[in-house]
Order: sequence, then structure tokens, then C-alpha cells
Amino acid sequence: MRSTLLIALPKGRLFDAAIGLLQRAGVETDGGVGSRKLTFTDKGGQYEFVALKPADVPVYVESGAVDAGIVGSDVLRELECDVNEPLDLRIGLCRLAVAAIEGSDLTALDHLRIATKYPRTATRFFSARHQHTHIVRLEGSVEIAPILGLADAIVDLVETGRTLKENGLGIVEEIAPVSAKFVVNRTAMKTRNTAVRKLITSLDKVIYAHP
Ligand code: PRP
Repeated sequence: MRSTLLIALPKGRLFDAAIGLLQRAGVETDGGVGSRKLTFTDKGGQYEFVALKPADVPVYVESGAVDAGIVGSDVLRELECDVNEPLDLRIGLCRLAVAAIEGSDLTALDHLRIATKYPRTATRFFSARHQHTHIVRLEGSVEIAPILGLADAIVDLVETGRTLKENGLGIVEEIAPVSAKFVVNRTAMKTRNTAVRKLITSLDKVIYAHP
């Protein structure tokens, strides 16, 4: 068994917030700055980190290839991986929402074309209300899809709302709040319990600290 706890971090918009939170919890890393090496350690030598594409984090955690990870609840909702979710990290706060061009009447359409990076989430959401949809799976910049006529609406993350506003779109309906979660492999939760609990306690203290 490894002496260190191996933790997957999401590259992209959550990465800096995750490194900052770990630092406040007493886990000092350089975040792999200035290196192309995919793993890096903390200064205390207790943890090893690997930076992955966000959608790969729960896949690695579920398989046990890494012990734990940090990932957005939007990704967890989409992939439905079987992992333990012991802690909400209260970073990466935003919303998953349905949005469309301001003033468009979606109720007039009996078959909605939805552009999204979240095809399973969107399918579940519209199926639950018996709404017929055609899902157009995109990799990013989905706000442009209704403008160019590829879709009637989108399902996407909204943080400040600026991207929607600057492209003439507005929220039609919110699907769910989003935040980053600390996730742990189900076996590691038992076999590495002391090390996992120690990190959860340190994170919990800084996240839920009361003055
Ligand atoms: C995300 C999301 C929205 C935007 C929302 O995109 O998909 O497009 O941020 O943020 P806002 O409400 O603060 O404007 P991201 O920057 O991750 O790029 P992407 O569109 O290429 O996925």
C-alpha cells in the first residue's frame, strides 16, 4: 500500500480554488507550477496529487486508481459514478440551468433541441417532465448554439450570468445548485480511513469555521 494518499484534482476553473482550500487546511503544495509532470506532492509528504480533466476525476476515484478527488457536483450528477461523498467543499459555487434566447417561448415547441455538455443530466431532467427533446452534445461555448439555430435552448453552468447576458440569453429554469465535493473511493474509505479522516477533518475545520 502507498504511504501517501493519492488525490485527483480537477484541471480548469476549479483547480486554483482547490489548491487554495488545501493550503488553508494546512496542505502546502506548489500545484505542480512550472512543471509538465502530472503528479506532485505536498511539503509534508503525506499526499500525492494528480491533475486530471474534471470528467475523469470520478472515474479514477471509482476504480481505486486514486484514493480520493475533488470534483464538481455537476460532473458527479452527469456521470453517476459510485463514490463516497463525505464533504461539500463550498467552492466552485454555481448553478446548472436551462437557458434560451431572451423572449423565446419554449412552451410553444413540442420538441425541444437542447445543446449541452451534460447530455445525461439534460435527458433525465426533461424526461421527468415528459418533454420530448433532442440532445445535441457539445464540448463548450454552448451559449452560441441557440444563436446559430443549432438548438432551442441549452443546459449549462451559470456562475456570474455574464456569458448568458452578453449573448442575449436568459435563464428559463434552474436545475440544481453546483459546488465542489470531496469524493473518496469506497474501499479507500475503509482501508485508508485514518488518513482520509485526517484530511476531511482539516478541510471541514476551514470550510465550516465559525468566528
Ligand atoms: C462555463 C459555462 C458557461 C460559463 C458560465 O464555461 O459552461 O459557459 O462558464 O460562467 P458565467 O455565468 O460566469 O459567465 P467555461 O468557461 O468553463 O468554458 P466552456 O464554455 O468552454 O466550457
